[in-house]
Amino acid sequence: MIEFHQVGKQFDRRKVVDDLTLTIAEGEFAVLIGASGSGKSTTLKMINRLIEHDAGYIRFAGEEIRRFKPEEIRRRMGYAIQSIGLFPHWTVEQNIATVPQLLKWPRPRIRERVAELLELLHLEPEQFRHRYPHQLSGGQQQRVGVARALAADPEVLLMDEPFGALDPVTRAALQLEIARIHQLSGRTIVLVTHDIDEALRLADRIVLLDHGRIVQQGTPASFLTDPANDLVRDFIGRSDIGIKLLSLEIVSNYVRCGEFAEGEAIAETLSLREALSAFVTRRVEALPVADAQGRTTGVLHFADVLARKPTA
Ligand SMILES: Nc1ncnc2c1ncn2[C@@H]1O[C@H](COP(=O)(O)OP(=O)(O)O)[C@@H](O)[C@H]1O
Ligand SMILES: [Mg+2]
Repeated sequence: MIEFHQVGKQFDRRKVVDDLTLTIAEGEFAVLIGASGSGKSTTLKMINRLIEHDAGYIRFAGEEIRRFKPEEIRRRMGYAIQSIGLFPHWTVEQNIATVPQLLKWPRPRIRERVAELLELLHLEPEQFRHRYPHQLSGGQQQRVGVARALAADPEVLLMDEPFGALDPVTRAALQLEIARIHQLSGRTIVLVTHDIDEALRLADRIVLLDHGRIVQQGTPASFLTDPANDLVRDFIGRSDIGIKLLSLEIVSNYVRCGEFAEGEAIAETLSLREALSAFVTRRVEALPVADAQGRTTGVLHFADVLARKPTA
């Protein structure tokens, strides 16, 4: 879907992106991560031509992106950044309708689309459509930013630290929303963050940048089990690697079916990390597990978690 081949970008004769080769498949959730100044935003903006690359090529849907008109790129790719991206003197409705307006959609279709998107992001349409950005909380502004990026049903969603300025609870809620939208829509998403936990939670593929170069790319699990070097280890947080591995796996894959254990059942959709917490707080070595309907399905053993030996 998006293909970088030996892409470079210089500012004032300084290489800020260097020899970047990367393929993002259709429907993939790719997360660009790295320290401040590592070239994440520049890489993202080269995809929608807010910044032009000056070496190599970038293809979108099989074509070099320079061949596309900027308007076409903007229609086919949504772009969301930190809340500063909303127009302060426009209502929520006008903000979300930016691209549909540009595309001259008929008014009833725009109204309908705005309502649909507000609902998708859990903002009550009648309550929110006429508000101005300053009448919203940070989390609500961010939701409007995401709704605006999705307005014309783009093929690709580009997001630059969209949850950067939010408190941890709001941030976690919005991460869930984005994961849900990704699953529902099957859209290709490229998200920039400097938060490794956000990357591990959301990504199909993580791309770690340092000084404009790719240090490692791969699945979240591969980053944890097979970090390429000390820089990657430091980025993940050495002391946390085991815990982070557990957070990638869910209880249902580790249940021994048909067994019985005492106590209140834990949900099979919990991560092993959450299960570990239950083992420790309850001081037990086996926990009953229940499905979404509350039916007990079997037992999770501490020893299986330690061994990370799936039963399913
Ligand atoms: N328009 C610009 N002019 C000059 N230097 C820039 C410009 N945009 C970014 N840079 C520089 O390029 C480097 C990478 O920036 P950026 O891609 O924004 O990093 P990140 O998003 O990872 O923090 C930084 O050193 C930054 O100062
Ligand atoms: Mg940036």
